[in-house]
Amino acid sequence: MIERPRRLRATPVLRSLTREHHLSARRLVLPLFVKEGLRSPAPIGSMPGVVQHTVPSLVEAAQEAVEAGVGGLMLFGVPAARDAVGSAGSDPDGVLNVGLRAVAEAVGDAAVVMGDLCLDEFTDHGHCGVLDAAGRVDNDATLSRYVELALAQADAGAALLGLSGMMDGQVGAVRGALDAAGRTDVVLLAYAAKYASAFYGPFRDAVDSALTGDRRTYQMDPGNRREALREVRLDVEQGADVVMVKPALPYLDVLSDVAAAVDVPVWAYQVSGEYAMVEAAAANGWIDRERAILESLVAVQRAGAGATLTYWAAEVATLLRRG
Ligand code: PBG
Repeated sequence: MIERPRRLRATPVLRSLTREHHLSARRLVLPLFVKEGLRSPAPIGSMPGVVQHTVPSLVEAAQEAVEAGVGGLMLFGVPAARDAVGSAGSDPDGVLNVGLRAVAEAVGDAAVVMGDLCLDEFTDHGHCGVLDAAGRVDNDATLSRYVELALAQADAGAALLGLSGMMDGQVGAVRGALDAAGRTDVVLLAYAAKYASAFYGPFRDAVDSALTGDRRTYQMDPGNRREALREVRLDVEQGADVVMVKPALPYLDVLSDVAAAVDVPVWAYQVSGEYAMVEAAAANGWIDRERAILESLVAVQRAGAGATLTYWAAEVATLLRRG
């Protein structure tokens, strides 16, 4: 026998030296939820270990994550009042913008502070865009709202905006408006290949979502692989600095295709349902929780993700630091 692959697996140090992908805290981004009017952090039933924050507890959690070494923080806001156009999203005193301002001030340049740019948390119907007279999501009317949200978030101190609404032309509209406002510095992360996924289920609890129905007229069909490359191409042409694939684990083929196709960074979002499945299995004693978490994250990186958004970011950063 000339080749014996097992030789390189004999000891932990040998395995480590020959490993192709190592996890790094700097490549993890922690999503955080901030809710208006809370007196203390509120647990999210379907996401054990994740909470809706008050502004002070948000700042504390952000600082802890940064101390653990995470590279970024992605903020989501849950307003006290919602309306048809999602006014709270563009209000400088709206909860997301207040949270962004507080976190940006607290962490400075120690981590990238990011805002989720979408309307679903702010609309009373729960859709990611505004509706037309017939109740359909109105793409082009939504773009002007996204522009208003973008300017408000940039003003609040977000260094990066995560465009997660899946409206056609959203990257170009927001880039143009930011540039016109002199904010050429703000980074745009396009949720380019975002699928209409059942794995977002627990997130609906996290943001007290008002949605009835689904998002299949704007998010991608799970049966499509080549279409992801089209979405990504359009976003890069419109000025996306980073593109993302979402969810992560069920879409590793898409992640791999996208990573091979573009020359901008490619990120992945390990979503709420991916988190909940591992937590639920682990709580039942059916799976080794830590190993499953680390394995899922290295799988996502192996498929092509440069950075990963994960609700385990702070915990994994701490684990990695301890070795
Ligand atoms: C839209 C948005 C969603 C998620 C992130 N941004 C919800 C959706 O598209 O239905 C889901 C994230 C997760 O499930 O963890 N603002």
